[in-house]
Amino acid sequence: MLDSAVGMGRAASPSRRAPFNSPAPTVQSSPLLGTYKQPAVDLVRGEGVYLFDAAGHRYLDFVSGIAVNALGYGDVGLTSALHAAADGLVHTSNLFGTSPAFKLAEALVARSFADKVFFCNSGAEANEGAFKFARRWARSLIGENLAKHEIIALRGSFHGRLFGTLAATDRPAYRLPFRPLAGGIAIVERNIEDLALALDAETVAALILEPVQGEGGVRVLDAGFVREIRALTQERRIALIFDEIQCGLGRTGSLFAYEQLGVEPDVLTLAKPMAGGLPMGAVLLTDSIAAAIQPGDHATTFGGGPFVATVALHVLERLADEKLLAQVTTNGEWMGKELEEIGRRTGRIRAVRGVGYIWGADVLGMAGHVVSEALQSGLLMCTAGDYTIRLLPPLVATRDELADGLAILERVL
Ligand SMILES: Cc1ncc(COP(=O)(O)O)c(C=O)c1O
Repeated sequence: MLDSAVGMGRAASPSRRAPFNSPAPTVQSSPLLGTYKQPAVDLVRGEGVYLFDAAGHRYLDFVSGIAVNALGYGDVGLTSALHAAADGLVHTSNLFGTSPAFKLAEALVARSFADKVFFCNSGAEANEGAFKFARRWARSLIGENLAKHEIIALRGSFHGRLFGTLAATDRPAYRLPFRPLAGGIAIVERNIEDLALALDAETVAALILEPVQGEGGVRVLDAGFVREIRALTQERRIALIFDEIQCGLGRTGSLFAYEQLGVEPDVLTLAKPMAGGLPMGAVLLTDSIAAAIQPGDHATTFGGGPFVATVALHVLERLADEKLLAQVTTNGEWMGKELEEIGRRTGRIRAVRGVGYIWGADVLGMAGHVVSEALQSGLLMCTAGDYTIRLLPPLVATRDELADGLAILERVL
């Protein structure tokens, strides 16, 4: 894992890729609610790591549907899994059992610290579920101890935009217009001294953290720091929740990011790449937390339906592939070094952070401007805060494809 400042220096080298010939996007009026600022690009198909718009322009995709499309586009195995799933049941509700959910839970348990799994439909929903399970467990510790209910999140965190998860998300622009947020949730500085004060055994039920903070600027948490957190939470009987919604399922080079930290959580949340682009989330729990949960404590209509679970089982097997994970690790190390080199050559990058196929670079000027320019040059990227560009290539991207994208980025910078 790398987290280092980059020096400034030489001018940009010539690019390895022909300039992208895209006309400027036009502003369209839209019946869609204006919650997204979208460029006027109509994406219509994908192939490997490339997306194509209706006008036939090709884009190298370093967004992957925000860490969702790990297998890229048009993947033959994924397409077959989708067809196989469509031949079976699509939905039955959780009033009845279906074997795809059972098999998927079994596979997740076999590959992780967890003993039990709850399925839902998105990342925010997974975290909301994790908060409920942790509270239910904390209250079961000493009778119905109502005092032990608080949830602590870290500075720079992003856990979702529903009321509970928004209160655990450290982005004033997302929070302020919606106050009052859910109570009993607080944000604490990312250091062990502040946490030691905040993690009161009597009042705190859970601590949630992202092993790699994604939206908060791609910040890889130090393994020693997380181990200290684990020791504190264990000692004070506080549930430790790892949010691996963005950094989990192969993106850091191991199936779960926590494998690189040397500690296991009590609860872990997944979503984004789980079902190859179909909406799905999951909460993984130890038996000790799960023992506190009773029928009726939580539910969702769609969670773990047979269609989505069949596809997710295929995706899990593919993302757990050792060869793929090794490639993400070695190519990721290379990508970090290349980004630092680009920073030196262009003088436009102040710091580079990341691991595997999740990288952030603090740029001079607004990150959104760099992202728009890159789009015009045929490279899709996103931001992680005002001054950080975020690179999330599909996990199947080859070294050459990564190099092509970085060459476009260098030219744009
Ligand atoms: C770490 C993390 N947690 C939670 C979420 C929320 O997921 P969703 O958008 O599926 O609700 C995200 C989304 O970006 C995320 O990156």
